[in-house]
Amino acid sequence: MGTMNAILFLTDAPARGRRFARNLETLGSPVVIDLLDPFEVTEVPSRDAVMAVVSDLSLSRSPQVAGLRKHLDRLGPRRPPLLCLMHEDTPRARAQAQALGADRILKAEDAAGSLAQALYGLIAAKPDSDAVTATTASVAAADHVLERMFDLGRSGRAPEASLIADGAILVVDALSKADIRTWLDVVLRFDDATHQHCLLVAGLAAGFGQKLGLGRSDCERLTQAALLHDLGKSRIPLSILNKPGRLDAEEMAVMRRHPVLGHEMLCGQDYPDEMLGVVRSHHEALDGSGYPDNLRAHQIPDLVRLVTVCDVFGALIERRPYKRALNGGEAYAILKGMAGKVDLDMVRAFRALAETSEAAVRAFAS
Ligand SMILES: [Fe+2]
Ligand SMILES: [Fe+2]
Repeated sequence: MGTMNAILFLTDAPARGRRFARNLETLGSPVVIDLLDPFEVTEVPSRDAVMAVVSDLSLSRSPQVAGLRKHLDRLGPRRPPLLCLMHEDTPRARAQAQALGADRILKAEDAAGSLAQALYGLIAAKPDSDAVTATTASVAAADHVLERMFDLGRSGRAPEASLIADGAILVVDALSKADIRTWLDVVLRFDDATHQHCLLVAGLAAGFGQKLGLGRSDCERLTQAALLHDLGKSRIPLSILNKPGRLDAEEMAVMRRHPVLGHEMLCGQDYPDEMLGVVRSHHEALDGSGYPDNLRAHQIPDLVRLVTVCDVFGALIERRPYKRALNGGEAYAILKGMAGKVDLDMVRAFRALAETSEAAVRAFAS
């Protein structure tokens, strides 16, 4: 998948449209189309790829309205949600927006602050969208957060704390509406291994937090930590990161630098120490056999232990060219066999989530 998250942004003022559209990049891929461009230079995304439509034009002018209608017609009767930005707030323009089937109307002057939020609400909560559609939208939006996080990472910059906070809200919201099975179902179809892994671990973390009965803010902290835990992989050469076979000893040594690299990137930023701890220490083991610092049990905080359990389980249920995906039961059995390394109390608490995961994972295990 990957390209089913287009946001069709129809405008009659392309410069303004592109400015607005930039605010939507954590949600999907905005495609800005100038409705008044006689040459129609921008390629229109295919019907199935469109996740939402934004109209950013004067609804009291007929060429604009006709252009908008043409796009909506092409998307068919079960089209994705439509948000209309109102540039002139007249009864006539409002009536026009209603007639076009707007799912949400937003005054253009309020759009800078609230467009992304409003649009996300529409995508996730479209009344006739089933759990899979809503989860697919959330996964696409969370994937965009990861894309930005890894892009920044590759250029040596740390992601803003607010980006990760937004991403965690998306994941926790999605997991409170649909169960882990649906989340895994969608994410296991991804082909990008690193994104898939981070989305799996984040979904498992959010689901685990819920099963543990954590409050909303603790759930979000745990999910933020999960989204962020492998940030350092952005500094690992792609030839190693995406190698289609097992890593040799030398490559493994490079790969094992990712916790320290991620930790270095985040130091001096706005992140709390516990978050830095997860990024640096998620490959530590209670018996001191982990890396990079050979920490021992009492030195490994709970937040790290929770992410580690999700991380190990996530890695086991992924399919790689050189390894089959384990099903939920097999993965859980391995986790349980890691006594001395992972926190067994937490592993026991994870059981219910592993069982719910079973059906989704089995379909992908081969
Ligand atoms: Fe890692
Ligand atoms: Fe990981």
